[in-house]
Formats: sequence, C-alpha cells, structure tokens
Amino acid sequence: MTALDEPVRTGGSVAVSITGLRKAFGEKVVLDGIDLTIRRGEFVVLLGPSGTGKTTLLRLLTGLESPDAGQVLVPAARTTVYQEPRLIPSKRVLANVVVGQRRSRETKEAGLRALAEVHLDGKARQWPATLSGGEAQRAALARALVREPELLLLDEPFAALDALTRLKMQDLVGDLVARHRPAVLMVTHDVDEAVRLADRVLILDNGRFAVDTEIALPHPRDRADPAAVRYQAAFLGHLGVGRPHPGDASLPTSRSTS
Ligand SMILES: Nc1ncnc2c1ncn2[C@@H]1O[C@H](COP(=O)(O)OP(=O)(O)OP(=O)(O)O)[C@@H](O)[C@H]1O
Ligand SMILES: [Mg+2]
Repeated sequence: MTALDEPVRTGGSVAVSITGLRKAFGEKVVLDGIDLTIRRGEFVVLLGPSGTGKTTLLRLLTGLESPDAGQVLVPAARTTVYQEPRLIPSKRVLANVVVGQRRSRETKEAGLRALAEVHLDGKARQWPATLSGGEAQRAALARALVREPELLLLDEPFAALDALTRLKMQDLVGDLVARHRPAVLMVTHDVDEAVRLADRVLILDNGRFAVDTEIALPHPRDRADPAAVRYQAAFLGHLGVGRPHPGDASLPTSRSTS
C-alpha cells in the first residue's frame, strides 16, 4: 500500500476515521493495523504503557508522520497541546496565542477571549518566562482554542503540573470541551484523569487497542463514586498495575474496536 503524505479530511458526524493503520520504525511495529472512529464532540482518552505508540498515533493524526499502510481521515481544523507549553519566549502571551493567525482586530479580540476562557485575563502582555507552569499550559490551551479545532489532540497535557494544578486543569479542560465541543483524543498515564474526563477510554498495547470502553457516568464525576473506582481498577488491571479484586477487572461496558 502507499504511504499517505497528508491525512485525508472527514465530515458529517465523524471526526476521525482510521482504518487498517500500520506504523513501524525499522523492525518495531508500533501500530499493527488499527481501526478507530471518533464521533464529533466525543472525548476519547488513550492509555497504554510507555513506548506503545500513543504519541505516534497523535503524530499520525496531526500529519507529522505518515502511515506505512491504512487510511487516516481527520478534520482540517485540528490542533495539538503537548506536555510542555511550547510558547515562543520572544513573543508576549497574546502574540503566542494568535501566532500564525492573520493580524487583525478580530484576531486580537479572539485571542483575548481565549485568554479569558483559561482565566489568563490580564496576562496578555506578559512574557512567557514570567508565567507559572500551569499558567503557561493554560496559554497553550488558549492557543489551541482560538483555532476553533474540530479535533483537539492532547498529549499528556497535565503531566508536568503539580497535583492540585492538574486537578484544576482537568476541570478547565472538561468545561472548555463541553462549551466548544471538539472531538478530543487525549493521551494520559493517569486512569483517574481518564475516568474523570472521558466519554470513552482506549488502551493501546502491542500495536492494538486492548480496551475500548464507554464511561457511562454523568458529569461532573466524583472520583470516589464506586462505579468510577471500578473503572479505574479495571483499567489499572489492564495496565498490569494493582491487585484486582473479584469483579474489578471486568469493565462495566465495552465495545468493539472495529
Ligand atoms: N521517529 C522515530 N524513530 C524511531 N523510533 C521511534 C520514532 N518515534 C517513535 N519511535 C519508537 O516508537 C515507539 C512508540 O513511541 P511513542 O513515542 O509513540 O510511545 P508512547 O506510547 O507515546 O510512549 P510514552 O508513554 O513514553 O510517551 C517507541 O519504541 C519509540 O522509541
Ligand atoms: Mg508519548
């Protein structure tokens, strides 16, 4: 099969459509013919051991990598937030948020609105070096939002933050996604975070999705809710962590990955 240089575009009710996606680096097969459909507005969290190909999958969706085989369909409006904020040190916060956008009053106003949404009003004229880690990551979120993505890719966006900031960021992302309704594919190693935010959780292992489960719990979610705890325990069991109790290792709902 031919490698695709550019991801092909989706439309209708589907935001992401992946069929038969294969990616290898030399001898190492990272993605072994995976299929995945993400609906518009669906929040999907991707878990999996280190080195299983989660970032590679995001890079394929961004268009930074091309598949060895298979098809990747994504919306044109897609953007990624990484573990580190990747702000340009020589540009002020607002200029970072609207970087690459056409210069106009509308762009500036959209940038200021996005900063207000992430509670950074008043920081527009500051330099990135003067922001805390959490503030810088919120500026990165504003930069993503201002592009009004139909697909938001998040690669361990809270991993570098302290525990309390992380919880606040989870709530913020939950609120922003509920308001803007992009489809989301978020990578994390935190099962608690996954159960808190996701409509659906995938676990990538050995080049395939070992788990594809809807989280059938209302929002806002209480991490102490016994149903949430059961999901967490089941995911940890699949990741080879923890001591499963009888009944813990089975997932309350599961769906086929095809
Ligand atoms: N450009 C590359 N060249 C060679 N090997 C690569 C390249 N990119 C990724 N890999 C390899 O592919 C595998 C998957 O990497 P990837 O970064 O996707 O893992 P990951 O699931 O995101 O891991 P982590 O949880 O540690 O971030 C790893 O073995 C990695 O070394
Ligand atoms: Mg990674």
